[in-house]
Amino acid sequence: MSAVPQASVAAERKAFYDRIDKSNIAPLWEVLHSLITPTPNTPCKPYLWEWRQVWPWIQEAGKLITAKEAERRVLVLENPGLRGRSRVTHSLYAGLQLILPGEVAPAHRHTQSALRFIVHGKGAYTAVDGERVTMSPGDFIITPSWTWHDHGNPSAEPMVWLDGLDIAIVELLDAQFLERPGVESQHTSRTEGESFARFGNTMLPVDFKPKTKTSPLFWYPYERTREALAELAKAGDPHACYGHKLKFTNPATGGWAIPTIGSFMQLLPKGFRGKTYRSTDSTCYSVVEGKGRVEVAGESFPFGPKDHFVVPSWAPHALEADDEVVLFSFSDRPVQEALDLFREQAG
Ligand SMILES: [Fe+2]
Repeated sequence: MSAVPQASVAAERKAFYDRIDKSNIAPLWEVLHSLITPTPNTPCKPYLWEWRQVWPWIQEAGKLITAKEAERRVLVLENPGLRGRSRVTHSLYAGLQLILPGEVAPAHRHTQSALRFIVHGKGAYTAVDGERVTMSPGDFIITPSWTWHDHGNPSAEPMVWLDGLDIAIVELLDAQFLERPGVESQHTSRTEGESFARFGNTMLPVDFKPKTKTSPLFWYPYERTREALAELAKAGDPHACYGHKLKFTNPATGGWAIPTIGSFMQLLPKGFRGKTYRSTDSTCYSVVEGKGRVEVAGESFPFGPKDHFVVPSWAPHALEADDEVVLFSFSDRPVQEALDLFREQAG
């Protein structure tokens, strides 16, 4: 039997694809190589946003639109590989939110979970389900899925924080809901510090039964986190790749503070030269203290306080510290762990 000419095969296949296309059917073999890849094929790129460049733009945004008009006055950190999709990584959103003295960002609730990491200024508050907390730099605050939250700034200075949300994860699952109560600020029914007293001291109310997977503690003050990191640095050697690293947890379950977003604080001792590491959770970092650099896949990104940077899934990277460095970071690690997908590799 003579071989069928190559051009004829191609034409025949194309005609077949065209015919079945009309019924919304497509051949797997044309796309299989891009669907199932040997290693993560993320569009997420490494990138660093310098505070000294971003801060004037944040201030400019403050003159262009009010917090009330914007609902949330945020400059989104868009990953260069995911432009126009409001994502810092393939699965997570990040933005820098500004609230000026006297402003209120009105109450709402949504199924997306959010974290706030305080970057600049102090004295503004976040209210979560009837309780306010006054925020300071380095504080980590969560607004759990479907909890009422609003923000206000009774202080005399502008305040900026990093917002991190699981928008893309909730979108993937088509589970988005939003409600606005029609009032600017929610009624406060609990005294400030109440949830910290209940859940923030390695103790729990004796009859407490968790109703959700999210932490009942919504404020993790930097003072405590910093003290823990300082003690760890005195107590022993840092991990060769990521230094002294802690994760924020739900005190009632020991699990993650937010079920969809892992959040971390790490200290790199002065002069630290981290070994290469990679993991499947693309990660967004906020620099709290110190100067250093991250080497990602052959590129070097020097960083300083209030800078933000992103390391993509499975990209080999190494952290270096000139001074003592403190980094906050967040990723989708809890989702990957829950689904047995998380992988990491050191060295
Ligand atoms: Fe919100």
